[in-house]
Amino acid sequence: MARRRAKGELKLVVDVPTELRALGSYDELHQVLLNLCINACDAMPTGGRITITGRGVAYDAKDALTKQLARAGEFVEISVADTGTGMDEATLARAFEPFFTTKPRDKGTGLGLAMIHTAVRLHGGVIEVYSEVGRGTRFRITLPRYVSKH
Ligand SMILES: Nc1ncnc2c1ncn2[C@@H]1O[C@H](COP(=O)(O)OP(=O)(O)OP(=O)(O)O)[C@@H](O)[C@H]1O
Ligand SMILES: [Mg+2]
Repeated sequence: MARRRAKGELKLVVDVPTELRALGSYDELHQVLLNLCINACDAMPTGGRITITGRGVAYDAKDALTKQLARAGEFVEISVADTGTGMDEATLARAFEPFFTTKPRDKGTGLGLAMIHTAVRLHGGVIEVYSEVGRGTRFRITLPRYVSKH
């Protein structure tokens, strides 16, 4: 879906270990990733690269508190990085605000990141963003890891 929306040549690199499982709603987390990819495509009007990486991480009580995670333990960290326009400080400061958009009226409602933020928090996770104008943006989501009991 992201590829169809992309203008110019889009390279999609996915590097996620197959045994990694996040604990959560498939539909909601699918929406989260799709929305991040659509944002990335919109930020790359002449093409570029989206890199999705995943890894397992563990946080003790102190680290979990610092990161504002709902609990300590094992997590899945998923990064979605693009080589797009990036965001200036003013845009970055408001990116998660409901109805904040820099896109034309028919292209964006400004609810995408607000929904992502809510969904990730509801899952007991956190979302962080790093962006540099002219270089690109990286969203990092930390979600509770599903660990099989068997
Ligand atoms: N990957 C990105 N690169 C550059 N800017 C971004 C990126 N993701 C979000 N933004 C900025 O944050 C704003 C808010 O994003 P958000 O997804 O909430 O809304 P939207 O994409 O404008 O509209 P909607 O998602 O509702 O269609 C965007 O308008 C854009 O300015
Ligand atoms: Mg969006």
